[in-house]
Amino acid sequence: MKRITYISNFSRPLSSDEVNQIGEVSVRNNSRDQLTGALFCFRNIFYQILEGEEDAVAACFERISQDDRHDRVFILKVEQDIEAREYPDWSMKTVLLDENSDTLVRPIKNMLDSLSKTHRIMEKYTSEFVRSTIENGENPLLAPSRKKEAVVMFADIVGSTTLAELLPVEKVTAMLDAFYDASISSISAQGGDVLKLTGDGFMARFAGDQSQAAVEAAVALQKHLQTIRLNSPEDSPLKYLHAGVGITRGTVLEGNIGSGSRRDYTLLGDVVNTAARLEGVTRRVERGLIFDDGIFEALSNRDRVRKVGLYRPKGKTVHLNIYTIDDPSMSLTMNGNLLREKLQENLAVATS
Ligand SMILES: Cc1cc2nc3c(=O)[nH]c(=O)nc-3n(C[C@H](O)[C@H](O)[C@H](O)COP(=O)(O)O)c2cc1C
Repeated sequence: MKRITYISNFSRPLSSDEVNQIGEVSVRNNSRDQLTGALFCFRNIFYQILEGEEDAVAACFERISQDDRHDRVFILKVEQDIEAREYPDWSMKTVLLDENSDTLVRPIKNMLDSLSKTHRIMEKYTSEFVRSTIENGENPLLAPSRKKEAVVMFADIVGSTTLAELLPVEKVTAMLDAFYDASISSISAQGGDVLKLTGDGFMARFAGDQSQAAVEAAVALQKHLQTIRLNSPEDSPLKYLHAGVGITRGTVLEGNIGSGSRRDYTLLGDVVNTAARLEGVTRRVERGLIFDDGIFEALSNRDRVRKVGLYRPKGKTVHLNIYTIDDPSMSLTMNGNLLREKLQENLAVATS
């Protein structure tokens, strides 16, 4: 048997009647499917435990996940091969905690409140790998390291040191937020996973056969940044939000690296260094996206690909063919010095 525990948010305000109706349908279906568990509802949050035979749990959870009365379904725990049910007498005990003022229930409310807050924070910091491992009922800390083919992307904001030096902290934070929003949405829309935020950039990974998707994600990211620049007021530093992206592919070592107290799920290998070095070349060639032969050869659509030339990335002994995508959003004429000039001009106007 299997047990799933998750939390989710109301997707719209739901009355007590509507929640009770979910409970009634659940009891009817779960009695038929021999599922048991509990559904707590508190401050627009659902907290549910569902247990039973593996296939029945999977089928029911599939229906629940698709239900548009809630969203942001975040699995807290999956227990496989459980021997006994925790709630054998409840087809689905539905409890509306908001309506219960019993002092004994107060600690449970507090606990659920802090649990949901903690998990909303964790959700933002958790990589797709860790999340999917938990969803498969495995412990990510025990996942073995393995060699695999991957497409690796590095990206970095242009002139981040200058930004940090010249701008107040709130403006730097706003720029980073805009950059990460654009990046994470573009990467995940194409099936990639942002594995690491580096402070002013990120490392992302796509499956080994996803070169085209990685390029599309980088193009979407650059277009997104271009839109931000165009739509920002003249005196906003967002006008100067540029980033370079480098992509390559090959064999990486992927897994948990670190000590007992602090572990990190990451990628290692020459491919990772090459992606980082390629990203560094974007400034030299004034293109916001570049990639090498490995990616070029794997692309299914080369219509917009343009060869930039033969370059030796810093720290590399070999020269690499460098390619980009022909699109106005790929132009990268911004650099640290120019950025400094622009920001100082803006500051002078603002204080005069
Ligand atoms: C938070 C939440 C929990 C739910 N729990 C269950 C459940 O335990 N069992 C169930 O059959 N349906 C549950 N549902 C309802 C399903 O999403 C779905 O509407 C229902 O299973 C469809 O049943 P029907 O085909 O009999 O109409 C839940 C819905 C929500 C929003």
